[in-house]
Amino acid sequence: MALWASSSSSSQKLFIASPALKHGNGRSRSRNARRDLDSVVHVGMAEGVAIAYEEGERERPKWAEETPFSRLVKAFVSFKPLYSVLKLGARQVLISTAEKNNIRWREMRREILESDVYNELHSIENPSLQYPDYYLSPFHAYEEGNLSWMVSMLFFKAAAEAEAATMSMTRRAIPYASSNEEATQELRGNWLQAIKQHHMKHSGNATIETILDIGCSVGLSATFLADEFPSAKVTGLDLSPYFLSVAQFKEKKRAPRKNPIRWVHAAGEDTGLPSKSFDLVSFAFVFHECPERAIIALVDEAIRLLRPGGTFALTDQAPKSKILQELSPALFTLLKSTEPFLNEYFLTDMEGRLREAGFVNIKTMLTDPRHMTMTATVPHQHV
Ligand SMILES: C[S@@+](CC[C@H](N)C(=O)[O-])C[C@H]1O[C@@H](n2cnc3c(N)ncnc32)[C@H](O)[C@@H]1O
Repeated sequence: MALWASSSSSSQKLFIASPALKHGNGRSRSRNARRDLDSVVHVGMAEGVAIAYEEGERERPKWAEETPFSRLVKAFVSFKPLYSVLKLGARQVLISTAEKNNIRWREMRREILESDVYNELHSIENPSLQYPDYYLSPFHAYEEGNLSWMVSMLFFKAAAEAEAATMSMTRRAIPYASSNEEATQELRGNWLQAIKQHHMKHSGNATIETILDIGCSVGLSATFLADEFPSAKVTGLDLSPYFLSVAQFKEKKRAPRKNPIRWVHAAGEDTGLPSKSFDLVSFAFVFHECPERAIIALVDEAIRLLRPGGTFALTDQAPKSKILQELSPALFTLLKSTEPFLNEYFLTDMEGRLREAGFVNIKTMLTDPRHMTMTATVPHQHV
């Protein structure tokens, strides 16, 4: 079943199918579902019951704010030996949880590492690319710089694990799904649906012909976009030539598309691509990895690249998600140990940043229990 089609297209349909409404945090109550479904934009289904993606009472999780506890966590995490232990712990938890959920983490990694993926690097990598400092910081320890063989192997290892890591993230977001495929359909389907609805409503009926997926990693978001908009030309752009090598390698294994995806190794804040050349610029799960100054630069570049009437779309962790707001401080500490800019992301006034850049029709909605999709338009009269 194409879950997203039934879950996001019509609240009326869900109301008929499902008189009981179960909230995303697991609490369940029978009541007039119509009123609740009207107040949420997207809902999922678990065992035939509609799941409302519930907002918490705060603007953002308390643990993201400057509190004595968060300062303590910051001090802990900046203590390198402890950071390494935490990171190792977080990784082990991630892999074992994934494998319990039928995500073949180590097998998937081996399949990539033992393949010919390495041959893609030379055609992808832009050797003169200047990496932003925040992107390189975890690798300062390597004296030979980021292109040494050892570091190169480390990066390929990360690239080989990226798809399994993404599947785990998806499964964590939709724990009530009966399979990994169902979780993926809900998370990606609602995101695509939000983009389509926004573009249809605000672009003056223009079709989406050109798409830029900034931070495409190993190509999952770009391939979802290409599958959803088969007549569009899709460009996947990322700072990592290793992730892009995996993206290109995997795409070559699929049936050829009418419009092959183009992979570009560049910084999203300085793409070198022509102004006003895209109908849709998308950032899927990128901003939580960036400091605020990078987010501002990425948004400015997006508005430069979009045509008037074009659509900006970002999907990422939702500060208003009730589940995220209720995460235990211990879990947050673990999360924080692998995500150095998570706090900064949660503290950023994202809608405000889009307004400052010049976007209009800004809309934010939860598209699964943990994530939001924020869409916006470049004004038609934008110069
Ligand atoms: C979590 S991954 C994105 C996953 C992917 N979009 C998806 O939906 O499956 C974040 C990606 O953003 C990329 N990235 C981070 N900062 C970037 C920047 N300034 N420009 C381009 N890519 C960036 C990273 O290299 C990484 O591949």
